[in-house]
Amino acid sequence: MESVRSHLNEYVTTVGKSPIRALFELSFDPTLISFAGGNPASELFDVEGLTKSFTHIMETAGQRALQYASTDGEPEMRQAAALRTTQMGVPTTAAQVLITSGSQQGLGLLSQTLVNPGDVVLVENPSYVSALQAFGLQGAEFKPIDTDEGGVVPEALDAAIRQWKPKAVYMIPTFQNPTGVTMPESRRRAIADIIAAQDTWLIEDDPYSELRYTDEQQIPISADPRLDDRAFLLNTLSKVLSPGLRVGWIRGPEEILERISVAKQANALQTSTVDQLVAAHYLESNDLQAKLDPVRAEYARRRDAMLTGLREVLPPGSALTEPEGGMFVWARLPEGFDASALVYDAIKAGTMFVPGAPFYVADPDPRTLRFSFVSNTPEVTHEGLARLAPVFAGA
Ligand SMILES: Cc1ncc(COP(=O)(O)O)c(C=O)c1O
Repeated sequence: MESVRSHLNEYVTTVGKSPIRALFELSFDPTLISFAGGNPASELFDVEGLTKSFTHIMETAGQRALQYASTDGEPEMRQAAALRTTQMGVPTTAAQVLITSGSQQGLGLLSQTLVNPGDVVLVENPSYVSALQAFGLQGAEFKPIDTDEGGVVPEALDAAIRQWKPKAVYMIPTFQNPTGVTMPESRRRAIADIIAAQDTWLIEDDPYSELRYTDEQQIPISADPRLDDRAFLLNTLSKVLSPGLRVGWIRGPEEILERISVAKQANALQTSTVDQLVAAHYLESNDLQAKLDPVRAEYARRRDAMLTGLREVLPPGSALTEPEGGMFVWARLPEGFDASALVYDAIKAGTMFVPGAPFYVADPDPRTLRFSFVSNTPEVTHEGLARLAPVFAGA
């Protein structure tokens, strides 16, 4: 076995599998109540609206939809992506957008395009595991940036850039995965000042900002025009429409998008033609904001149920984040607890969470764990947490 591994790419053998994907396999057990995955609630998908768009596209543009298409994305979808990004506060033209098969492909392509083995990438600690995989496969070396309840600490970022001279800084400023933390506006300005003054790329990942449960809209850091030549903003329809569609995009400097397009050709030729045409038609013929209103209301209800329930079942002395959007609550158990050691007891009890340690690039905190609150109704969350209570009580 060792000899086979020595014949593989060195990074493929060292980058770990996502523990969330490993748990994902188990979560298909219908009796299990899972708080592990980052799945939007399937029962809230607009199946009817998407069926109409699929039917329309197959009836009016079937041959085109089933054919190969351009690497950069179909014009309708690039236009729709540019419009959505502009509406989020980042003025964008279709030429500044490259369509990807979900934002995960965007992360992989950016990694291939920007990172050489040994390059430093600065990341929040903890951060999104599959971004760490994407950069890790390219041989990136990770350095953590200090964060607090407002996300990345500007002074710490400035010091880290000066110390490590990173190739790129990767951040999820809004409803972060895994912590649910959001960076306030004043801090976004401070971060933009720092990036504008330094020689590094900003990779801003923003899959969750439209799943907000307050009226406060967060504007991406990349909106600052001083960053137009150095910021990449990743977006996706996965969390607001459907992750099965696999439609996302990168907004970035046009001359770099051209290079990313070469990486995409080598990687996958293109994003699904039919998915793009359907998504573009859906966005044009529906008011997604209006469609999202009831989804946001339901997710807020589910978040509240999770927070109330967790306060009851977590051991005294535990801490919780209180996210204003997104999908995740991050918890820290009291001194002496190890969340990884409890996962299998939780599964035996018929429920599941993700231990926090794999999200860290340095100094993993074994007491942390992540709960997704959107996939289950309040009633099911209540039942799942009741199953979990004895697991914590007996630890
Ligand atoms: C922070 C973050 N980025 C990117 C993704 C990838 O999403 P997709 O490829 O479905 O757009 C996810 C999915 O969970 C995520 O949490």
